[in-house]
Amino acid sequence: MTADPHGTATVRGFIATAALAGLAGCGGGPDPARLAQARTLIAADCAACHQVPGVSGAKGRVGPSLAGIAKQQIIAGHFANTPETLVSWIEHPQHMLPGNAMPEMGLSHEQARTIAAYLYTLEDR
Ligand code: HEC
Repeated sequence: MTADPHGTATVRGFIATAALAGLAGCGGGPDPARLAQARTLIAADCAACHQVPGVSGAKGRVGPSLAGIAKQQIIAGHFANTPETLVSWIEHPQHMLPGNAMPEMGLSHEQARTIAAYLYTLEDR
C-alpha cells in the first residue's frame, strides 16, 4: 500500500500543533536549553526594537514591550494571539501585515517557535 500524502500532512500538522501546545507551557514548560537559545535569538534579532524581560540589553522602544505578551489578546493590533499566529508574526511580519514597521528577520520556522515559546513564559513575570 502506498503512503497517502494528505494523511501524512495531517499527521505532521497534528504533531506540530501538539508540540506547540507543549511549548506554550502546561506542566513543566519549555526546557531550559530551549529558553536559553530563545534568549540568544531575541538578544540578536529583537532587542534593538523591543523590551523583553529576562533578556539583557533588550530595551528597544521602536516597537511595543513584549512583557506580558502571553496575556495580550491581539498581536500587532490585528491578529488573535494564538501560538500559530505569534509564530507566524515572528517568522513573517511583512506577510501578515505588509508595510508595518517590523522587518522580516529571516528566521526559520523552528527559530520562530523557539522565540514564541519563550515569549509565552513572560506571563509569569
Ligand atoms: C526594526 C524593529 C523591530 C525588530 C528588529 C523586531 N520588531 Fe517586533 N515589532 C516592531 C514594531 C514596530 C511592531 C509593531 C507593529 C504593529 O503593531 O504594526 C512590532 C510588533 C511585534 C509584536 C506584536 C506586539 C504587540 O504588542 O502586538 C511581536 C510579538 C514582536 N514584534 C516580536 C518580535 C520578535 C520576537 C522579534 C525578533 C525576532 C522582533 N519583534 C523584531 C519592530 C521590530
